[in-house]
Amino acid sequence: MQIEFESTAAAQVETDTLAAICFEAPEPVLGRDAVGPSLVVDSEWVLQSGWMAELRQSGEFTGKLYETALLHRPEGVVAKRLLVIGGGKQSKFTAVEARRIGGVLARTAKGKSIRAIALSLDNIEPTPANPDDHSGLTVYDASEAVAEGAVIGNWEADRYRTDPKKNEKQLDTFKLVWNGEAGHAVEAAVNRGRIVAEGQNYARDLVNEPGNKLTPAVLADRARETCDQFGLTCEVLDQAAMEQLGMGALLGVAQGSTNPPFLIAMKYVPAQQSGSDHLALVGKGVTFDTGGISIKGADGMEKMKYDMAGAAAVIGAMRAVAQLKPELPLTAYVPTVENMLNGNAQRPGDIVTSLAGKTIEVLNTDAEGRLILADALTYAKRNGATHLVDAATLTGAIGIALGHYNAGAFTNDQSFLNRFFSAAKTVGEKFWQLPMDDEYKEYLKSTFADLPNIGGRYGGSITAAWFLREFADPTPWVHLDIAATAWLDDAKSWMAKGPTGIGVRSFVQLATSWNQAQS
Ligand code: BES
Ligand code: MN
Ligand code: ZN
Repeated sequence: MQIEFESTAAAQVETDTLAAICFEAPEPVLGRDAVGPSLVVDSEWVLQSGWMAELRQSGEFTGKLYETALLHRPEGVVAKRLLVIGGGKQSKFTAVEARRIGGVLARTAKGKSIRAIALSLDNIEPTPANPDDHSGLTVYDASEAVAEGAVIGNWEADRYRTDPKKNEKQLDTFKLVWNGEAGHAVEAAVNRGRIVAEGQNYARDLVNEPGNKLTPAVLADRARETCDQFGLTCEVLDQAAMEQLGMGALLGVAQGSTNPPFLIAMKYVPAQQSGSDHLALVGKGVTFDTGGISIKGADGMEKMKYDMAGAAAVIGAMRAVAQLKPELPLTAYVPTVENMLNGNAQRPGDIVTSLAGKTIEVLNTDAEGRLILADALTYAKRNGATHLVDAATLTGAIGIALGHYNAGAFTNDQSFLNRFFSAAKTVGEKFWQLPMDDEYKEYLKSTFADLPNIGGRYGGSITAAWFLREFADPTPWVHLDIAATAWLDDAKSWMAKGPTGIGVRSFVQLATSWNQAQS
């Protein structure tokens, strides 16, 4: 799908389907009066056409959030069809709603075999008459969010479906139309939205790959390809190199699989650097998690192909960062293994020595993510990271604690997490902090080694985070447990079922706003 921008009057746009956002509440928009009591729009072409009043009277469309109505041959408009979409209450309209509207439009259009759609941004600007009660969403932020949402909404997990009809319902072009001043700034925002969303979709493509297609070696190949394509440096440690370094925690997990492990590093070096910070993004890359000898049940085990969603998120973020070029040096580290069981598999009770030198008693081979991340975090620190962010589908317990709507966030440095939160909020990804009081560390006691790899029955996500912290300290670190948010079990009207690509947008925003956030 092409994302385009055109600076024209919406009514004149040559496209199959013109789209417009219509709000619910009768608020004045740009000094103009509301159109009737329940719908607000701000476009001459809409006012002239007269269809709005009819639609409203019919009760078919009220402007409720994400509600749609399609009209054929609308008067006063060059486009053949007009798709109106509800924006809800204009005073509550933020980038979150704008992003989802992009997604709903893309998915609705596809569902109706529409191949080209153009959204008018006419009525998105803040309401000067009513500043207190408005989100203050600018046309730039709105167009970035809509473009992002359209690209995200267009994605489907259908790569391995051979249905010949699947290409019939495809959107070729999504255009944003704005006739105001500073069209180039809107165009730049659209472009940025597209780049970030393509990074997110790249991550979703990786997550969607089943375990037989995406082994650790294939993931390393994908990372190398991404680096070559976008001008990043790629270094991949193989098993021998990791043995040499002493990454016993990572290697212990990998030893039960015939697919060898890798540690991938994707480096972005800015042309111009401001400050001396170096951000490392570390992503859990378990291409399939059987649980190992502490094997998982058969029910739902097929989903464990998504146990590399953290890895995918950091790779997708690097893909976007390489194009957006912030002034911050950034490296993604991806420890990637397959957690299998063969005659050489790690046993419960095994003791391994991590790269940091700490010994770990592996009480449960299914708590493998923290083992591979421990060595990757240590490696990132040794290679100059001043700040660490990891993303991992780490614990089932995080879904018990937070459900599917917030990912878990943990830190050893509150001000760093606050900065991450502000980036996440800007791009509409939801994280919720869990505590890391010292008391929880008491759950992590081993008789025979420095640390066990599991705590007890309680606070499972927190003990997992504490385990990682033992390797991250004293470097400022944020840990994101995305086990319950990286996969969508039921499609939303703005997003397909399957991988969500969570993390990508926040990572890109954190990196590109780094120096603003400092001051
Ligand atoms: N990859 C899983 C966590 C997971 C569970 C991700 C469900 C997505 C959905 C992780 O490796 C794991 O198995 N964790 C164990 C830890 C336990 C053994 C302490 C878990 O959560 O059950
Ligand atoms: Mn596991
Ligand atoms: Zn796992």
